[in-house]
Amino acid sequence: MKQLLITGGAGFIGSHLIRLLVNKYPNYHIYNLDKLTYAGNLENLKDIENKPNYTFIKGDIVDTDFINDLFASHSFNGVIHLAAESHVDRSIDSPLEFIYTNIVGTANLLNAARTAWKDDMENRRFFHVSTDEVYGSLGDTGAFTETTPYDPHSPYSASKASSDHLVRAYHDTYGLDIVISNCSNNYGSHQFPEKLIPLFVNNILNNKSLPVYGKGVNVRDWLYVEDHAKAIDLIYHKGKKGETYNIGGNNEWKNIDLIEKLIEITDELLQRPKGQSRQLITFVTDRAGHDLRYAIDANKVKNELSWEPEIHFDEGFRKTVQWYLENEEWLKNVTSGDYQKYYDKMYNNR
Ligand code: NAD
Ligand code: DAU
Repeated sequence: MKQLLITGGAGFIGSHLIRLLVNKYPNYHIYNLDKLTYAGNLENLKDIENKPNYTFIKGDIVDTDFINDLFASHSFNGVIHLAAESHVDRSIDSPLEFIYTNIVGTANLLNAARTAWKDDMENRRFFHVSTDEVYGSLGDTGAFTETTPYDPHSPYSASKASSDHLVRAYHDTYGLDIVISNCSNNYGSHQFPEKLIPLFVNNILNNKSLPVYGKGVNVRDWLYVEDHAKAIDLIYHKGKKGETYNIGGNNEWKNIDLIEKLIEITDELLQRPKGQSRQLITFVTDRAGHDLRYAIDANKVKNELSWEPEIHFDEGFRKTVQWYLENEEWLKNVTSGDYQKYYDKMYNNR
């Protein structure tokens, strides 16, 4: 049985990936290593938690001894590394957490893998899940390719860029079999409601204002999270050693247009008068260092591995909004605890 370590599997993308892998590969044992920060939630994995090929391990990737012991006591065939601090606004408020988890945590995993695998590197792979934000910001045209120079602007994207460099260094220096993917904005169920889409659905539900940063003209490319999970599966199994793959939805939206669409669907599903929640839109101070536009050229993964997004945005977006509305209890659970303090600090109790 192959032993596969997934880090950050209790988070948004990680939980979708684990669900896919546990169900698709009964001959793999999937270990989910997660610290369960505010963003990690085992509720996300309720449907698969009792599967015989799944084990949860609570732990911190920043803890060097713990990570070394974990690799010494298991014989992992591979790692898919998603654990990270992932929210740009939090990185502006508390950058050091991002440096520890995203940089030191990644270094700990790389080092433990190289040490544990040094006498038998064959068929062992380290997959680092990264972001398009490492490439910086685009003007009105163009798209990020795998050779676009790194130009991160937030502590979050700088910490992810730094971890990408470390992963490549472990390939070049120690011959570790690595692959990296850089993906655009994911949307779907189980995303923590600090990120744009679940935050705005939650605020509409509670008749709270919708804080649009700046003029709402920033552009993001949106990909359905299950399509991302399928791309990770494919790249892990078929990607070329040492390579980077950009993943995107070919689906760019100006924030304000996406918000209009979100309002329309949410009002419809809540059976409120059409566009009623538009009055909740409030333009607030822009995010510091706010990248204007991200766009992905995903031709490499398309041409080499035949990956393309399967879910059309109209379908995925409606399904996503519907999921949050049908899972108010989930929203309530994850927003109890420290969430209110975070929200008040970030949005001055709007
Ligand atoms: P998330 O914040 O929802 O989940 C992160 C998970 O990592 C949580 O379960 C958390 O408990 C865990 N974690 C955090 N610190 C840890 C630590 N020190 N030790 C162990 N576990 C820890 O994040 P996400 O949105 O699912 O993103 C997952 C990965 O994908 C991240 O590396 C992120 O940079 C990358 N990514 C995200 C997106 C996106 O749109 N969300 C897009 C591209 C890439
Ligand atoms: O591009 C990939 C990245 O996408 C991932 O690496 C990050 O982990 C993920 O959080 C996401 O980053 P963004 O900063 O693009 O996502 P966020 O949902 O925070 O914001 C999306 C856009 O909406 C962005 O332009 C900022 C804006 N926004 C966001 C929030 C939370 C608002 O206008 N108001 C808000 O309250």
